[in-house]
Amino acid sequence: MSAAPSVGEVQQSTPSEEVWNFPLVLLAVKVGSALAAGCTVVIKPAEQTPLTALHFASICASAGIPSGVVNVVTGLGATAGAALANHMDVDKISFTGSTDVGRLIMKASADSNLKKVTLELGGKSPCIVFSDANVDHAVKMAHFALFFNSGQACSAASRCFVQEDIYDEFVAKAAQRANEKIVGDPFNPKTENGPQIDAIQHKKILELIESGKGEGARLVAGGGSKEGKGFFIEPTVFADVTDHMRIAREEIFGPVQQIMKFRSVEEVIQRANDSNFALAASVFTKDINKALTIANSIKSGIVWINCHHVFRTQAPFGGCKESGMGREYAEEGIREYCEIKTVTVKIPQKNS
Ligand SMILES: *[C@@H]1O[C@H](CO)[C@@H](O)[C@H](O)[C@H]1NC(C)=O
Repeated sequence: MSAAPSVGEVQQSTPSEEVWNFPLVLLAVKVGSALAAGCTVVIKPAEQTPLTALHFASICASAGIPSGVVNVVTGLGATAGAALANHMDVDKISFTGSTDVGRLIMKASADSNLKKVTLELGGKSPCIVFSDANVDHAVKMAHFALFFNSGQACSAASRCFVQEDIYDEFVAKAAQRANEKIVGDPFNPKTENGPQIDAIQHKKILELIESGKGEGARLVAGGGSKEGKGFFIEPTVFADVTDHMRIAREEIFGPVQQIMKFRSVEEVIQRANDSNFALAASVFTKDINKALTIANSIKSGIVWINCHHVFRTQAPFGGCKESGMGREYAEEGIREYCEIKTVTVKIPQKNS
């Protein structure tokens, strides 16, 4: 671990991270930003994906990054993660993971050296489809927005609001798309949906699917576990979901799409905004004024118009409310690893 105070202009920091759904991409973003800001890093990968981080570190070494600059500590969150979060010489933690663990990290910071913390946590992102949108395109995009990476994405569109005039058509097409999805071995190039990461997630997703059935949502595709060598879940679509069902409020992190019906712009703004999470939102419409009204009205770190899951190096990414704090990517992402130092020089006066 290397986090001695720096001598240069840039404060040295030490991020740690715990990401399993996109282990390589998020390593690149976090480590890239930290190194650009002049920091050394200690990576604490998620216990589900240690090999990616170890291989990444070996590539850093062979690329000539000096020893001690990029470090990896594998282990469990409760031990290795907690040791970093509580460490007095770690200046910053950048964490991607669950909201519950995000809270623990902030507490550890408060109880130790008040290290800076950026958190990229859960989401329950709305995808709003107006009746003037191209329905086939919207069905395809809403499907991708939720089912991408087997539903294991913090910005997954897990609340899909569809305007009443096209609702029935949208639901039928969304169910058809889910039923056609090829589930299986992720090493088969034809596969569109692989297994979930582990037994814990698999069980949690199935439990939420059961809660959806129990609370009266209309199951139009999937709805259970799928046979196979792995933790497979059938691509699942619920229609007629209402705002207070658990599947409309809790992050599922699996291939389970919730479709809700709405009437007016005012109504959908209020409902889409009514969430403890505020990571991302998307809107599908041909009317740019409607799209910008939604973008301005909903509290959300990111708003996508006629697209979803678009990540670019120039575009800051991060959330509000219980989706976290701070931004990654772009200049803002690099600034998260810097401290501002004010140096004031007194100009000599005649009499002093
Ligand atoms: C959205 O929710 C936030 C609270 O999270 C609130 O401050 C804001 O007024 C809401 N916006 C609308 C348009 O209701």
